[in-house]
Amino acid sequence: MEPKPPSAARTSLSHIMTAVDTNLLGTVHGGVVMKLVDDVAGAVAQRHSGGPAVTAAMDGMTFLHPVRVGDLVHAHAQVNWAGRSSMEVGVRVLAEPWDRAGVPPVRVATAYLVFVAVDADGQPRAVPPLLPETEEDHRRLREAEIRRKHRLTRRDEIMASREEPR
Ligand SMILES: CC(C)(COP(=O)(O)OP(=O)(O)OC[C@H]1O[C@@H](n2cnc3c(N)ncnc32)[C@H](O)[C@@H]1OP(=O)(O)O)[C@@H](O)C(=O)NCCC(=O)NCCS
Repeated sequence: MEPKPPSAARTSLSHIMTAVDTNLLGTVHGGVVMKLVDDVAGAVAQRHSGGPAVTAAMDGMTFLHPVRVGDLVHAHAQVNWAGRSSMEVGVRVLAEPWDRAGVPPVRVATAYLVFVAVDADGQPRAVPPLLPETEEDHRRLREAEIRRKHRLTRRDEIMASREEPR
């Protein structure tokens, strides 16, 4: 399969937050931002893999700043790492405050998601290798490899602990 650069599948989604997106404090509910993150990451995984892909894991989601009704929120995503059938997608969420024009967007969240490309039977299928182009792409790839190692180690250790006699 031909390798693809992160730029080939890079995608952004934007949404103006409304009153239905709020929590009891009147700011935007974290789940609304998580949905936007999952949507944009899914589009990236589908573009990189050339077909359906499902969310296998979402981790490292950090909320840095509250979002308010009326804010214009942008989620930018790209593939950081690709394995045999899985991909790590990194998402950066920015908000433009509705009441202040011309100020730089505020960084409100970051997240890392693992998607697995699947065939018509829901079984994992191979994805194109990732071809990092820029220094930033290489940095993201290195950091994604560290996160993958930690994810799989954690999963294996938890599974092993369930099999240990009590
Ligand atoms: C994701 C899914 C297809 C993986 O199936 P599986 O039988 O576990 O597949 P495998 O064990 O062969 O793993 C496939 C790949 O996913 C990776 N993977 C699976 N679970 C993972 C996890 N929790 N974290 C990181 N990577 C994971 C594996 O490392 C492997 O990567 P590689 O092929 O690049 O080496 C399956 O678990 C599934 O269908 N889950 C439900 C997904 C879904 O419905 N999401 C929407 C939620 S509403």
